[in-house]
This record gives sequence, C-alpha cells and structure tokens, in this order.
Amino acid sequence: MTTVRINAGRAYDVHIGAGLTARAGELARSVLSPCRICVITDTTVQRLYLEAVKKSLSDAGFSVCSYAFPAGEQSKNMTTLSDILEFLAERGITRSDAILALGGGVAGDITGFAAGVFLRGIKFIQMPTTLLAAVDSSVGGKTAVDLKAGKNLAGVFLQPSMVICDTDTLKTLPGETLACGIAEAIKTGVLFDEELFSLFENGRVSKDTLPFIIERCVTHKGRVVEADEFDRGERQLLNLGHTVGHAIEKLSAYGVSHGHAVAMGMGIIARASAASGYCGDDTAKRIERALINNSLPVSCGFSAAELSRAALSDKKRKGDTINLVIPESIGRCRLMKINIDGLESFIKKGTEA
Ligand code: NAD
Ligand code: GLY
Repeated sequence: MTTVRINAGRAYDVHIGAGLTARAGELARSVLSPCRICVITDTTVQRLYLEAVKKSLSDAGFSVCSYAFPAGEQSKNMTTLSDILEFLAERGITRSDAILALGGGVAGDITGFAAGVFLRGIKFIQMPTTLLAAVDSSVGGKTAVDLKAGKNLAGVFLQPSMVICDTDTLKTLPGETLACGIAEAIKTGVLFDEELFSLFENGRVSKDTLPFIIERCVTHKGRVVEADEFDRGERQLLNLGHTVGHAIEKLSAYGVSHGHAVAMGMGIIARASAASGYCGDDTAKRIERALINNSLPVSCGFSAAELSRAALSDKKRKGDTINLVIPESIGRCRLMKINIDGLESFIKKGTEA
C-alpha cells in the first residue's frame, strides 16, 4: 500500500493498493470512532463489491447499512440526492455517524454532496472503484449533481476523511470505462508531467502500471488542491478539456461519458490552441496521439456554435468572460480569459482543423 497525504483544510490520507477492500474497516477506524456507516453505491458496484465492503466495516466494529441508485450519470441529479438524504434520515443517521462512497465519480460526487448537506455536514469516506475516480474525482473535495441547465451546477466543497483505493477493483472495469480514467490521467500529464504523459503516448498502458499512475495523479492533484482548495486560481487548470467536454455531455444528454467528453474536449482545445499559435502543432499532435493510442476520441459531431452555446452555461463563465485552459507544451498549461463573443470562433479552430 502507498499513501499520499493531502494537506487541505481537512488533511487526509489517500491509501492506494491491492486488497484494500478487506482492510477498509481497519483503515476507517483510524479516522472514525465506532459508529454507523451508510455505504452509498450504484447498482453495478453493489453487485460486485458491496458485500465485501460491508463485511470489512462490520468486522471492524461499525454498524452498516447501504443505499444503491441506478448506475450512470443520469442518476447524478437532485432526485437521487433527495432520495439518499431521506434514506439517511429514515435510518436515523446522526452527526457522529458517517457515509461512504463506493463506486465511480458519480457515487463519489453525489455522496460527498449528501455528506455536505445532511444535518449540515457529516463525515464521509471515498472508496473509488473506477480509474477516473481513483486518479481524480475521489480527491479534492468537489462534490456535485447535474441540473437541467448543465453539469455539476449544484454542489459543495467538502474534503473526505479518507480515500481508500483498492486497485483490485479496477480489474472488473470494462475497457471503455477504464479509458475514461486514462483520459483524466493524460490530462494530468499534459498539465504537469511529461514523463507521466509519455507512458500514454507510447501506447496502451498495462494494468500493472495503474497503481503508479494513480499515485502520481493523486500527488499532482493534491498539490494543486493544497494551493487552491476553493478553485479560485490554479485549480482551474484541472479543467483542461472540460469546458468543451461538459458541453458535449450536456448536448448528448449524458450519452457521451465524462471521460470520453473530456478526451474530445482536449483534442478540440489542443487543435484550436495550435491554430491560434498558443502552442506548436507538435504539442497538439502529441496530445491527439496519446488519446488515440488509448482508444479515446479526439473530436465530436457537434458544431462550434452548439458547443459554445452549451458551454456558456458552464460554471467557468464569469460575466462576459470564460476561463479556458490552454496547453503551451506537454507539462505546461495556462489559464486564458476569453470574451464569450470569441468562444465560438476559438472552438471552431479546433473542430475544423
Ligand atoms: P461512473 O461513476 O458513472 O462509473 C462508470 C461506470 O462504471 C458505472 O456504470 C459504474 O457502475 C461502473 N463501475 C464502477 N466501478 C466499477 C468496477 N470496479 N467494475 C465494473 N464497473 C464499475 O463514472 P466515472 O467515469 O467513474 O465518473 C464520472 C463522474 O465523475 C462524472 O459525473 C464527473 O463529473 C465526475 N468527476 C468529478 C470530479 C471531481 O473532482 N469531483 C473529477 C472528475 C470527474
Ligand atoms: N476535477 C477538477 C477539480 O477537482 O478541480
């Protein structure tokens, strides 16, 4: 097991390793006194891992209950959040109890939100079971649900008490879902780490490399979150590919997964940045190659007009401007404020290139 410490407002450990489900209860006891824990998961992960997690928690002295919602982004909404809150209330969960997110980014984001608002805040633990949740969403304390107007438009910042990432759970991920996590890991490479990036550039990564990739991504994300927990500056870099990506998710009625949409968004932004002279053609080509080599898409069927219209409901809009993340070279990106009137023509350089 390796452990990365995140020194955010609430400091916590991210434990990464094989076989950690069996140790989840013991690890949780280092941050929680014996109490009730409600495990929140989705129906797919429920079938695969819920019983083992419940056993581990019970063996460590916790009293356990669970709630499962239908798997998929379509569940990440106010109705599911409300159902979870009603369930916690019916079960008499108190402020000295806790909840645990077992699953991918959807389970993590919605459980974190529930933890932030139930009884004005209770503790929660993240147990990511997708690569995307392991490398990105389980760390940093952003929680959310989608609204009809757009992606992640309601949420709170709340750091978990601990993250337990059992890398064995990644073995059951379908290839497409694994690739979603690779997209976020490639993003981390483009932002901060050419050596990490080159793993993906050189072809499909082997499953044995995943623990290393997770540790490296969590370390980078932790550093950014420590510097800017509430997303006022540097943390916005983590949105590389996301302004366009969120627009694609919304326009597809969440038929395109988050990871695939981010890959498409990175491809479009990379080409637009090269066409605008913000980075060399070689940088854009390298980003495309890394994505394509890992079975990820680099373009979408939506027009620049559709994408920019949908993007303007994004949180990243501030009045008449929107912050975009621009790759300058592999391992270095910058935030660029552009006027909303210029968004469509900028995106067009990436959709038509
Ligand atoms: P997801 O949670 O929907 O999981 C994808 C699919 O994989 C689901 O069908 C799930 O049931 C299944 N699954 C999960 N674990 C499995 C396993 N071990 N074996 C087999 N199947 C498994 O999606 P995701 O890609 O994990 O996360 C995407 C979400 O994360 C989006 O809503 C996105 O907005 C959010 N996100 C949040 C942050 C953040 O900082 N909070 C960062 C990035 C993404
Ligand atoms: N995934 C973006 C962030 O955590 O800020």
